[in-house]
Amino acid sequence: MLIKPMVRNSICLNSHPKGCAAVVEQQIAYVKQHLRPSTETPKMALVIGCSTGYGLASRIAAGFGYGAATIGVSFEKPASATKPGTPGYYNNLAFERAATNAGLVVKTLDGDAFSNEMKASVIDAVKTIAATAGIPAKIDLVVYSLASPVRTDPGDGVMYRSVIKPIGGNYSGKTLDMMTGKLSIASVEPASADEIIGTVKVMGGEDWELWIDALDKADVLSPAVRTVAYTYIGPELSWAIYKNGTIGRAKEDLERASNAINARLAVNGGAAWVSVNKAVVTRASAVIPIIPFYVSCLFKVMKDKGIHEGCIEQITRLYKDRLYVSGGVVPLDDARRIRLDDWEMRDDVQAAVLACMESVTDETVFTATDLTGFKHDFLEAHGFDVRGVDYDADVDPSTI
Ligand SMILES: NC(=O)c1ccc[n+]([C@@H]2O[C@H](COP(=O)([O-])OP(=O)(O)OC[C@H]3O[C@@H](n4cnc5c(N)ncnc54)[C@H](O)[C@@H]3O)[C@@H](O)[C@H]2O)c1
Repeated sequence: MLIKPMVRNSICLNSHPKGCAAVVEQQIAYVKQHLRPSTETPKMALVIGCSTGYGLASRIAAGFGYGAATIGVSFEKPASATKPGTPGYYNNLAFERAATNAGLVVKTLDGDAFSNEMKASVIDAVKTIAATAGIPAKIDLVVYSLASPVRTDPGDGVMYRSVIKPIGGNYSGKTLDMMTGKLSIASVEPASADEIIGTVKVMGGEDWELWIDALDKADVLSPAVRTVAYTYIGPELSWAIYKNGTIGRAKEDLERASNAINARLAVNGGAAWVSVNKAVVTRASAVIPIIPFYVSCLFKVMKDKGIHEGCIEQITRLYKDRLYVSGGVVPLDDARRIRLDDWEMRDDVQAAVLACMESVTDETVFTATDLTGFKHDFLEAHGFDVRGVDYDADVDPSTI
């Protein structure tokens, strides 16, 4: 069948197998150039949320940069003979194919990371991998990179939902339609108390703690294990909807969990951090108010200054200059966080972004901002608009 992008209301409903596979190959090529294994780098990594965005980059960097055995957990829809699967489904296939060809040890588990069953399956996988590959049954790196709209608490079976809403008052701000380039004002009602609780339950740190607890009790963590979860802070102009909103509350809880997990692991020489990453374009970026507008201006400024990064460049920097920096001391901010948003938050960058946001009009949006780059990254996250892929060729959606 021919597969062309189907975008409705800033959501892309399908994906292209060959395009997804090509992007995975590009990321593999990047880390092979930039990372080298050492005695300090991980031999076995677990990536929770491994199939797209920051988690995919984290898995690729651990596997192809450091030669680690990787266990990946994600929740994706497979393809049928007539309907494409989700991008993460194809990314996982592409990662596994390339890793197997390169002689790397891999195991991908598809299902609900929030469940007790998935935690038990991962523990079994660690032991099986260790037995067959002849390596210790110990995970050295746990990356927690879930982004989910819902979570069923395995304790009481209640399903919680996460929302992106302001707290305490309405939010209204400029937003940008990625497909048409039209600027408009988006308004969002404040979250209810239940919505705040729900978002913290889904996107906060509770599940990360449950993972570490289960892995630790099963004795599959190496004494010097390192674990990291990702967060975003962003500029003040987005705080009403992000940092001071529901998702910000959840991220505060992630930081709480990071400190609790760190205290637990430090007893044996391990550590936990949150890493504040840069804004990038992922599948959900286009539907968050202000984000397409802010990111289009940010990309323009960072590309002009030669400091633009996507997921794979960010994670390469996370591993090389932070988690496994030579000398061993992980650079942290005053709140014990890793900062990969240092270039995004530079004063000169933020001043230029603000000037861009204040001056842009419907007429100048394609020249004064990098909306084209935003749209490209959005389509690319679904396997479209990828250089070298023939979108007029017939493809079998069931395989890469
Ligand atoms: N996108 C950004 O600009 C940005 C910036 C800074 C930090 N972050 C943070 O990075 C983390 C990852 O975000 P992303 O943008 O890479 O997300 P993403 O949507 O690209 O990836 C989410 C991953 O979670 C998996 N997943 C979702 N629900 C699951 C479930 N129930 N069970 C198993 N797997 C499940 C998906 O399969 C996928 O692998 C999030 O914590 C996010 O807040 C994102």
